[in-house]
Amino acid sequence: MRRKLAAGNWKMHGSVSALAELTTLAAQIDPRGCETVICPPATLLFPACNIAKPTEIAIGAQYCHPQSQGPFTGDISARMIVETGASYVLAGHSERRESHAETDSAVHNQILAVWKENLTAILCIGESGEDRGAGITLDTIATQLSGSLPDGATGENAVIAYEPVWAIGTGDVPTLTQISELHDFIRAQLVRRFGDTQGNAIRLLYGGSVKPSNAAEIFTVENVDGALVGGASLQAVDFIPIIQALNDA
Ligand code: 13P
Repeated sequence: MRRKLAAGNWKMHGSVSALAELTTLAAQIDPRGCETVICPPATLLFPACNIAKPTEIAIGAQYCHPQSQGPFTGDISARMIVETGASYVLAGHSERRESHAETDSAVHNQILAVWKENLTAILCIGESGEDRGAGITLDTIATQLSGSLPDGATGENAVIAYEPVWAIGTGDVPTLTQISELHDFIRAQLVRRFGDTQGNAIRLLYGGSVKPSNAAEIFTVENVDGALVGGASLQAVDFIPIIQALNDA
């Protein structure tokens, strides 16, 4: 049985005052329900971990450098992330693939660094609108998956988030049939590569314009084990109903 997971990616949003949302979230979610992870900006990792420590909420970083230290101005390493108390790291988000030119091989190396510190990677993959228009969605997904997920992925150290780029922050959501096709495809790829046990243990999240209004129907899709939520994770009032929908699914 895969434990359901609701992950919030705050991206470059949230000042110190946003930590109040985390406190509200912790007070209101069912501790016996799905796993909940919040990925705040790096500046908030320490205080977020302090708030989350006595709760069931886990904290994640949004990126880490493949090296553990060195002359890499502006970067943070997995070793530094461990010190904050965080347990997850996002890898290969499309916004970083785009604005920081992160390749599959760079993401692969980041995940190795994440695993070296015993953290869990949430690998993001997803096709662009152009890919979908050209009918090469599955090729793109297969390439990203094989190129960025290293050997040795397990249900403990890896989560995959399918985030179609054209659905992120746009309000456009794929049909349930499209989500189902992609999640089944990713599951089949994982089983083929990692075997039945680990391939079926790795959780698959859907991401891209998940809202309180559409979460419940997305969670009816088989092989959707939760969501990676951007905008609607910034405020507890929006994220809580999404978490509840996942608990009820
Ligand atoms: P939105 O939920 O704002 O569309 O963002 C999705 C996302 O990119 C999460 O990583």
